[in-house]
Amino acid sequence: MEFSTQTSASLHQIKTAALAVGVFTDGILSPAAETIDHASGGALRALPTHELTGKAGSTLVLRDLKGVSAQRVVLVGLGKQADYTSKTLATAEQAFAAWCVSIGIEEAVSSLSSIECKDTTLRSRARTAALAAGQACYRYTATRAATDNEIKLAKFALWATRGKPANEAQKGLREGQAIANGVQLARTLGDLPPNVCTPAYLGETARKLAKEFKSLKAQVLERKDIEALGMGSFLSVARGSDEPPVFIVLKHTPPGTKGTRKEAKPPIVLVGKGITFDAGGISLKPAANMDEMKYDMCGAASVLGTLRAVAELELDHEVIALVPSCENLPSGRANKPGDIVTSMAGKTIEILNTDAEGRLILCDALTYAERFKPRAVIDVATLTGACVVALGHVNTGLFSTSDDLARQLLDAGKEINDTAWRMPIEEAYQEQLKSNFADLANIGGPPAGSVTAACFLSRFTESYTWAHLDIAGTAWRSGKDKGATGRPVPMLVNYLLNLD
Ligand code: BES
Ligand code: MN
Ligand code: ZN
Repeated sequence: MEFSTQTSASLHQIKTAALAVGVFTDGILSPAAETIDHASGGALRALPTHELTGKAGSTLVLRDLKGVSAQRVVLVGLGKQADYTSKTLATAEQAFAAWCVSIGIEEAVSSLSSIECKDTTLRSRARTAALAAGQACYRYTATRAATDNEIKLAKFALWATRGKPANEAQKGLREGQAIANGVQLARTLGDLPPNVCTPAYLGETARKLAKEFKSLKAQVLERKDIEALGMGSFLSVARGSDEPPVFIVLKHTPPGTKGTRKEAKPPIVLVGKGITFDAGGISLKPAANMDEMKYDMCGAASVLGTLRAVAELELDHEVIALVPSCENLPSGRANKPGDIVTSMAGKTIEILNTDAEGRLILCDALTYAERFKPRAVIDVATLTGACVVALGHVNTGLFSTSDDLARQLLDAGKEINDTAWRMPIEEAYQEQLKSNFADLANIGGPPAGSVTAACFLSRFTESYTWAHLDIAGTAWRSGKDKGATGRPVPMLVNYLLNLD
């Protein structure tokens, strides 16, 4: 999709297949809607109130209005004016783009970002708009014919005042587009079947990204390299499957860093859980919905998607993605409950449940991260069913021992409608991970399952600033709309954009 700004002074003279203008409830028109109403001799005000509801995300189409050049004016509902937030804007922009896609038009213009909205700037609203439009254009097609109309929408313009506003909007559009591309990559990887999206496939994806973007360099470590690093915990999980494991290092170096930059800041390291299928191992999962455990690599997908966005934006910070990837299957060589393995950090781990495998692969990646002397490390993982119980599908679980980092991530998520909720992670929970036979156990019993999982990880992150995002409830949707969401790519990219 191509994003641009439309800076024509008079809204009613814009020639387009569809022009979106916003309306609030109680018949309150946005300034753009007001303009169209005037130009058309009161066509909007003439509508009965039960048609012009202004309900958030609703669309009402008016065709061939007198005095208006656009073929269709789409009245997009924005809800109550007093409650208007960037979330409503995203809903509205997505509804408009989805409608454009459904009727098969090729280009459209939206005036929605021009509406003032608390805690936002024109730039952030343009970012939201481009992301929403990009999201509406995602279709999974890799392994089947498209079931609905193919997407014709190829051009999306934001109406903005010429000069500084148009420049700000342009910046936001570019950011939103890069985020949307990162989200698309993460969704595609998540939705691909587990016999296609294997550890090797994720490695290949990293290599392809490095080919496409100059700032990216990919290293895909194989089993023997992983053995040489001493990642005994990660390898113990990988051993249960015939599919070989990989450990991906994908590095973004800002253009012009070499030599010329005065002081290169320490990098941000992102770690993504890359279990391409989680059957649970010997602690086998029940059969119902087990297919959804193909999504157990969504952490990996999101950090690859984030690096894609970072590279497209030529971000001025070093960012490194680490992905430990393998399958978790039962077999004659799989981990058994009671097995004790030695992590790269030298700590021994008693595996009491082989289904708590995410932490076993992440702990070694978190130890590997130490070598970069990072400014911060953020891991992203579909780690616990308990997180879904705690937070449902609304918020990602955020765990951090740093109030600063936690705040930055919460704010970044809120600004781009990809929210997290902070969960506790205090010393008292560590008690539950005690083992009689090893330095720690890999499970802490039923109480506070997502917290003890985070506590387990924290034992490997003591040398740097760290946060953990549990995306078990937010990485994909189940049921008839089953599909990956691409979260938390928007939060992560926004966090990186906000860094000084
Ligand atoms: N990948 C799962 C977590 C998961 C389960 C995410 C369901 C989304 C939906 C993880 O590897 C796992 O199996 N965790 C166990 C941990 C338990 C054995 C302590 C869980 O949550 O049941
Ligand atoms: Mn598991
Ligand atoms: Zn898992």
